[in-house]
Amino acid sequence: MKKSLLAAVALGMLASGSVLAAERSGEDVYKATCTMCHATGLAGSPKLGDKAAWAPRIAKGKDALYTSALKGIRAMPPRGTCANCTDGELKKTVDYMISKAK
Ligand code: HEC
Repeated sequence: MKKSLLAAVALGMLASGSVLAAERSGEDVYKATCTMCHATGLAGSPKLGDKAAWAPRIAKGKDALYTSALKGIRAMPPRGTCANCTDGELKKTVDYMISKAK
């Protein structure tokens, strides 16, 4: 009984499109948006997984990196150009990028 109710709710969300509002993972956001610069180091961006490039940035603390991701820093555009990303999604994406540089 409970299970079928859940399924009905899930179907309803799919049908209404509200499932699109579900939070994306940091990896999803990274691959959809940030990769266009951070995969190659375009415009001087720290490359994903490049420990030497990330170490001095990580040393500034997570909050500083969150702020850079939300507001932009030099050639890094605000929200990394992901206009429809929530603050939470952007923070998870920063966490994902940090995790790859450790
Ligand atoms: C248009 C290219 C571009 C895109 C797209 C982009 N970045 Fe960046 N990013 C940069 C550049 C360039 C820098 C280096 C800025 C500097 O320190 O001069 C940077 C730096 C950063 C930093 C380090 C900031 C700091 O304070 O040291 C973080 C974190 C970051 N980007 C996160 C993201 C996230 C998350 C996304 C995707 C949502 C993203 N970026 C998309 C170009 C980009």
